[in-house]
Amino acid sequence: MSPLLSLIAVTVLALTFSPAPVTGWRPWPHMKPNSSDLLYGGSKKFEGSSEFVHLRYHMGPVLTENITIHPIWYGTWERSQKKIIREFIGSISSVDSKRPSVSGWWKTVQLYTDQTGANISRTVRLGKEKNDRFYSHGKSLTRLSIQSVIKSAVTAKTNPLPTNPKSGLYLLLTAPDVYVQDFCGQVCGFHYFTFPSIVGYTLPYAWVGNSAKQCPGVCAYPFAVPTYMPGRKPLKSPNGDVGVDGMISVIGHEIAELATNPLVNAWYAGPDPSFPVEIADLCEGIYGTGGGGSYTGQLMEDHDGATYNMNGIRRRYLVQWVWNHLVNYCTGPNALDQ
Ligand SMILES: *[C@@H]1O[C@H](CO)[C@@H](O)[C@H](O)[C@H]1NC(C)=O
Ligand SMILES: *[C@@H]1O[C@H](CO)[C@@H](O)[C@H](O)[C@H]1NC(C)=O
Ligand SMILES: *[C@@H]1O[C@H](CO)[C@@H](O)[C@H](O)[C@H]1NC(C)=O
Repeated sequence: MSPLLSLIAVTVLALTFSPAPVTGWRPWPHMKPNSSDLLYGGSKKFEGSSEFVHLRYHMGPVLTENITIHPIWYGTWERSQKKIIREFIGSISSVDSKRPSVSGWWKTVQLYTDQTGANISRTVRLGKEKNDRFYSHGKSLTRLSIQSVIKSAVTAKTNPLPTNPKSGLYLLLTAPDVYVQDFCGQVCGFHYFTFPSIVGYTLPYAWVGNSAKQCPGVCAYPFAVPTYMPGRKPLKSPNGDVGVDGMISVIGHEIAELATNPLVNAWYAGPDPSFPVEIADLCEGIYGTGGGGSYTGQLMEDHDGATYNMNGIRRRYLVQWVWNHLVNYCTGPNALDQ
């Protein structure tokens, strides 16, 4: 499926089953088995580049104030797994990481502005966290019950998460044994905002699932490969956890889109606001120079043979690039021609 088609499919499903569309994503919807672009080296320069992409600003708010991310850990999470994700979030604004860095990746997101010309905030912080260890809303969540999970987190009797719609982002992270509506088939994560009627506030949020048990070949690609690609070897993941290392790029994707399109009325391409194509959608599957089709682009390898494309504070990560509307193509900190 083309990226647009898959988005439309997602949104049509969303329209059918829930009161509003959400913007969902998986790492490589345009992968075609046996197509010529499966060949390494045979890729075009910047498939994620086009004169015809009309990413436009639709006058809605973007996140220009210091951004605080509140993770909600749903189900069973190991400390080591939380650490990988926390340090990724902590790396977004870090000035100490070696280049190419996660903070260098965020610089493309900072290029986006609101009506007043204010840029997206440089500062992204890890806020308060909530554990939902005992699956408060079960092991199978819908797009609507996700909002109830967030409601439980912001209205809890002990240590509720603070509510700040202008700079707070709520990141629901589900353990490998949790199924979420459309997970694996259509999406690996999505973002939207909560409805006041359910949660009491309009809060931008994202969900990202750990796909380790359900579909690593879909959502943790290229650290796992789908069964229909025999012969393609999975790449070694940088932090030794295929599910979580795969989540990192999806988390980056969703945070970049939340910052530039928190209420789905700011930065997106496409003629119809029900089918927004956002700054990370445009660069799905592109992690380095030359990326496109199923080719990730030029990546780096550490001394253990693990693949990554950027440095965080203490770790390495593989994160997809995002659209740069000033030059009209996907950019990232590890670009070879910068
Ligand atoms: C891909 O090519 C191989 C060998 O050429 C063939 O056996 C296989 O069925 C093809 N797969 C698809 C999905 O077309
Ligand atoms: C935003 O973050 C910057 C840098 O971390 C800090 O200096 C500033 O005081 C913060 N502003 C607010 C309003 O919290
Ligand atoms: C703010 O956005 C403008 C317009 O895209 C860009 O030229 C400028 O470099 C951005 N500033 C920062 C600090 O990223």
